[in-house]
Amino acid sequence: MNSNRTTRSWRLRRRPDGIINENDLELVTEEIPEITEGQILAKTIYFSLDPTNRIWMSDIDQYMEPVEIGDIMRAGGSLAIVEDSKVSHIKVGDIVQGGMHGGWQEHFIIPGEEAIAIPKEESIPLTALISVLGFTGPTAYFGFLDIGKPKKGETVVVSAAAGAVGSIVCQLAKIKGCRVVAITGNDNKCEWLKNDLKVDEVINYKKEQILDSLREKCPEGIDIYFENVGGETLDAALTLMNNYGRIPVCGLISMYNDWDAPGPKMFRNILMKRLKVEGFLVSDYLDRYSESLEALSKWMVEGKIQYKVDIVEGIENAPSAVNKLFTGENTGKLVIKVSDEP
Ligand SMILES: NC(=O)c1ccc[n+]([C@@H]2O[C@H](COP(=O)([O-])OP(=O)(O)OC[C@H]3O[C@@H](n4cnc5c(N)ncnc54)[C@H](OP(=O)(O)O)[C@@H]3O)[C@@H](O)[C@H]2O)c1
Repeated sequence: MNSNRTTRSWRLRRRPDGIINENDLELVTEEIPEITEGQILAKTIYFSLDPTNRIWMSDIDQYMEPVEIGDIMRAGGSLAIVEDSKVSHIKVGDIVQGGMHGGWQEHFIIPGEEAIAIPKEESIPLTALISVLGFTGPTAYFGFLDIGKPKKGETVVVSAAAGAVGSIVCQLAKIKGCRVVAITGNDNKCEWLKNDLKVDEVINYKKEQILDSLREKCPEGIDIYFENVGGETLDAALTLMNNYGRIPVCGLISMYNDWDAPGPKMFRNILMKRLKVEGFLVSDYLDRYSESLEALSKWMVEGKIQYKVDIVEGIENAPSAVNKLFTGENTGKLVIKVSDEP
């Protein structure tokens, strides 16, 4: 049925050296394979672009296998419409999550037993399902609440605060009655954080001296530092942590293009201040996913959580768009729109 129809996908051609170069990937056109009994053919609507795409391109010891040279680039998440189905529980036109089968590609096949049709709810846009109610909201939820263990009145510092994860952490911290100091690298993002998300203080790390600004804006020290970036920001936060402070380590984006960058100079404060520093992956919490989605949805309905999605149109733009995450040009969850929503 699909013979002679073609589909495009981005395959990894070589491992990037520093920032991703468009020639590190190759846009290939291939024939859409026929599906067999028990399979589904899905056409991508959105796929997520994530800082971890850069980690997966590197041949380093990491939390899952790197993408192999020649393989289709993995996507952190995708939403697709079913074009053909040879299973009884999924029909043409259903919307499905790509899971581990979706990637930087226009079409993909999912084994029927892994496909779950997403219930159609007019009130929940697909862009929410690939952002705050995809995996960036749950990342913020479990990292901040489970590891950060916030208490009312505590001072919380969030790095990459206007990003997909960081912006949700800021709002969760406000919901929990904390004082929030948000760090970002752009004045428009500072305005959004202050005026719309109602954080208490903002710092533009590209204009200000991070340690001086943090010292001024955290006069009672830092109780929770939600770590998204590493580098100089981590050092500044470590310097000002209070006794028994918590650091959920969600990401280290400043290092993804340069793993030789030095580690924190103030490591000693983990001892001196008896800090809890814990790395986590949202996938560690899969069995509690529904808890986070329920809570986040409720807060969204109550107007306590807002989110932004930065949509770049066209699969051909994926390699240039992913670098927006490293230059800070994205506002909110960065996604590629591959085809129109139904
Ligand atoms: N552990 C998990 O399961 C998990 C899941 C999702 C994401 N993460 C991590 O969470 C972090 C945020 O991811 P996201 O998807 O929400 O992306 P994002 O925050 O929407 O985008 C990345 C942001 O990081 C900032 N940034 C980039 N390079 C930087 C640098 N050298 N120094 C300081 N800030 C820098 C930029 O914002 P500015 O304009 O503010 O510079 C950029 O917009 C990443 O570290 C990611 O790897 C972890």
